[in-house]
Amino acid sequence: MIGLTIQPRQLEFFKARGRHICYGGARGGGKSWAARMKAVGLCSKYPGLRVLLMRRTFPELLENHVRPLQALLAGVAQYKATENAFLFPNGSLLKMGYCATEADVYQYQGQEWDVIVMEEATHFTETQMQFLTTCNRSTRTDFKARMYYTCNPGNVGHGWVKRLFIDRDYRGSERPEDYVFIPARVYDNKVLMDTDPDYVRTLENLPDAQRRAFLDGDWDVFAGQYFSEWRRDLHVMDPIDIQPWWQVYRAIDYGLDRLACLWAAFDENGNAYVFRELCVSDTIVSDAARMILSAGDEPVVATFMPSDLLGRSSQTGVSIYETFSSCGLSGTPVNNPRVPGWLNLKEWMHPVDDGAGNVRPRLRIFSTCRELIRCIPQLQYAKTGDPSDVAKDPHDITHAPDALRYLMDGRPKPGVKPVEEHHHIHRTPIQRQAASILGYGGKR
Ligand SMILES: Nc1ncnc2c1ncn2[C@@H]1O[C@H](COP(=O)(O)OP(=O)(O)OP(=O)(O)O)[C@@H](O)[C@H]1O
Ligand SMILES: [Mg+2]
Repeated sequence: MIGLTIQPRQLEFFKARGRHICYGGARGGGKSWAARMKAVGLCSKYPGLRVLLMRRTFPELLENHVRPLQALLAGVAQYKATENAFLFPNGSLLKMGYCATEADVYQYQGQEWDVIVMEEATHFTETQMQFLTTCNRSTRTDFKARMYYTCNPGNVGHGWVKRLFIDRDYRGSERPEDYVFIPARVYDNKVLMDTDPDYVRTLENLPDAQRRAFLDGDWDVFAGQYFSEWRRDLHVMDPIDIQPWWQVYRAIDYGLDRLACLWAAFDENGNAYVFRELCVSDTIVSDAARMILSAGDEPVVATFMPSDLLGRSSQTGVSIYETFSSCGLSGTPVNNPRVPGWLNLKEWMHPVDDGAGNVRPRLRIFSTCRELIRCIPQLQYAKTGDPSDVAKDPHDITHAPDALRYLMDGRPKPGVKPVEEHHHIHRTPIQRQAASILGYGGKR
């Protein structure tokens, strides 16, 4: 069909067997080329195969794959622009997909794909990857469903790619034998080295961390993950009882696109337990107030809101804060400069001695607060502005962490444990001895 020179690493990728195969590392190693060829090769070999090739955005998909494939497959497979798919004469389908927002991935709900290729997998969130995995199944007897991933270190999906393919730290039903990693290096790509030696020089001249990531494909340096201290096993806990003397606070991040409200209890040692979250979209202030007020009946010391909610609308002259108040939810405004707020959260997440011989973070989150738990590890360093800030994109992962920031900005106070009353009963030495032999201890 076409004269191909396959690089040795690409060949390794082509031959790899496993449920999840990742070709990742340095820029320019020939990963996208290999992924595209693999998809075409499988479509040609297995009649009626259904392959989904994903990029995060449509322009990337068009530039990186649709156009090269149109050139490659001219006269071989038919491109249906309305379906954004290539139809092969043997009935195979190569669908080109993208999901720009977190929710876009649900358009694939209920679909069945024998192969899913996630190109630039680190641009996808873990939730998107997990959802796509549920669409990757095959009823064929001659073919096992599988997913292919290509990627560079960094970006929003760095954490999950690194965990599965580099750290090989498996959880729940994940099986180590299902995950195969093929490291990519730009020097592997002879075509690029010959045609564009300047590209390699560009990589060699990058600042240290980026160079190690993009030239060497090093996954440890350029995590880009803001809360690198985040550990699910340390920061997430199964729900426990909230003691009556713990102080309960709420914090709200309000936007019409997403409301995030968190409830946290503070024990007598100042440890925080985020025990409830309410995260909903398209909710007007009065509905938000009603939902928050009816979510629980424990007494709340204060409800922190960012001070920008005090700003009056130029149209109505009423602030969001006032609307909340008129609905029976009076807030306590907090100053919320971003960087000090994020740094404060880092302190809360840092494991410390709790005084009882345990080293643990002062902030822990109940496993029921799914959105907060999902969003925190995905936050990245800002690429513009203050380098100590959190990136504002992707926007949909910022709401719950913002609410957490306001919660701690409000300087919540620890609970005060009531003093226990001790009843001392005096016993003679013989009585004490009898008590200990009879097993009712020395305290009664
Ligand atoms: N075996 C090959 N034969 C011909 N050209 C190739 C081959 N492998 C890669 N190339 C070309 O090398 C260039 C870089 O390859 P590709 O885009 O696949 O790299 P990549 O690893 O995906 O890069 P990035 O990390 O930037 O996404 C492209 O122009 C691609 O067409
Ligand atoms: Mg690529």
